[in-house]
Amino acid sequence: MKFQDLDINSNIKRALDDMGIDTPTKIQSRAIPKLLDGGRTHVLAQAKTGTGKTLAFSIPITNQISPKQKTVQAVVLVPTRELCKQVYSVVTKLNKYRKLKTVEVYGGVSIDRQRKEIRNGAQIVIATPGRLMDLYRRKAISFRDVRFVVLDEADRMLDMGFLPDIKYILFDAMKGVSPRLLLFSATMLKQITKIARQFSNGERLVELNVSKDDITVASCKQYYYKIREAGQKYASFVTLLKMEQPKSSIIFVNTRRWGDKLKKRLIQEKGLNMRFSSLHGDKTQNQRERVLSEFRKENIDCLIATNVAARGLDIPHVTHIFNFDIPREGPEIYVHRIGRTSRMENEGKAISLVTDDQMKMIREIEKFMQKPIQRLYFSENQQITIQAKSKKSSNYGESKKKSSNYSGSKRKSSNYSGSRKKSSNYGGSKKKSSNYGGSKKKSPIAVPASD
Ligand SMILES: Nc1ncnc2c1ncn2[C@@H]1O[C@H](COP(=O)(O)OP(=O)(O)OP(=O)(O)O)[C@@H](O)[C@H]1O
Ligand SMILES: [Mg+2]
Repeated sequence: MKFQDLDINSNIKRALDDMGIDTPTKIQSRAIPKLLDGGRTHVLAQAKTGTGKTLAFSIPITNQISPKQKTVQAVVLVPTRELCKQVYSVVTKLNKYRKLKTVEVYGGVSIDRQRKEIRNGAQIVIATPGRLMDLYRRKAISFRDVRFVVLDEADRMLDMGFLPDIKYILFDAMKGVSPRLLLFSATMLKQITKIARQFSNGERLVELNVSKDDITVASCKQYYYKIREAGQKYASFVTLLKMEQPKSSIIFVNTRRWGDKLKKRLIQEKGLNMRFSSLHGDKTQNQRERVLSEFRKENIDCLIATNVAARGLDIPHVTHIFNFDIPREGPEIYVHRIGRTSRMENEGKAISLVTDDQMKMIREIEKFMQKPIQRLYFSENQQITIQAKSKKSSNYGESKKKSSNYSGSKRKSSNYSGSRKKSSNYGGSKKKSSNYGGSKKKSPIAVPASD
């Protein structure tokens, strides 16, 4: 099937043609027809990173919205400002000929311009939740005619960090509107389906899962490198960078402060010959935009980032993801982080640095993905070698005992198995807690760092 064969507006087809896009991806061919039917069903869709979920929801909503009606008819909610700008850019390209007025709404910039743009007849609003609520409270936006609400990165949008805002928007601000809900992500936890049902108003929630047995892309080769002592981590990482010579990479760290420190040290390092910059929530909006734009233009080779860059960002030239720090929040964040490379079947590598006591987390991630991560070694002449997974270590998914540095705990939470049924009972154990979410949190799911 081609987009030309779909029953969508010819202006959308023309725009897709301009974008060089002719054949729908798996998730697009499943989701788009479901959403073109004008029915009342809500959709919860899971598909791997970099497989075109943005167009899977943008095409049907753009098609269904009335160009004549100059009111807000669709709201797309996303977790970060960077993703907001990116989705806005995709929807704008899609609207090149259809010309629906699309507005991006996010914090860190003047609210007045956004207010004005909405007043001037916004039809699609792409927003981060906080700023959208702010505009609503100031009566700068009306949801009266909203027919679609999209939660991109739905599992993130429905975790404790955002849930109160999302509940407010859907239950209070949109009371009486009952829009059609579209929830998309590469990872879905069990609780998400439950929470999504609460929002679906008793109407049918269709679950589409096109990544059932394998939630990460095969073109991303995944490795871990074991550090003997925590103190050697930086030196090992420098050796790794020298050997890998990544063309374009993102180095994930767990804290903003360390991100900046690491950047400084890497810049001073001799023999790396790479351009570094950092991206995190302590930067001004201006800096954040500039850094990302330079990285997109390949004027920066290596972006050191917190989880603010973990989800949704589409930068096709990224060849390497490094987890300098293994993510604390949960295995799903690992899946999103490494998903910044190997998009649309491009080849890529993900390498995570771990100390001995963090090996549990690697095992948890393997269980979550139902896939082994291979071990990398440096040999004496500083060559990288890869260890084939031994039988013993490849029992991810089996051990019910020792597990779970990621979930543990008696929280209802972090059943990281999500909708992937048979797998990963690393959430089930009632043991000691979770370096992935912290047992003290009330959160129903692990809460990623707040960027
Ligand atoms: N049908 C298609 N044919 C070719 N390229 C496509 C198609 N659909 C989308 N793309 C391209 O694929 C890339 C990834 O798309 P997108 O960002 O929507 O992925 P995603 O599934 O949302 O990933 P993530 O889970 O990381 O958010 C984009 O560069 C997009 O332009
Ligand atoms: Mg996406």
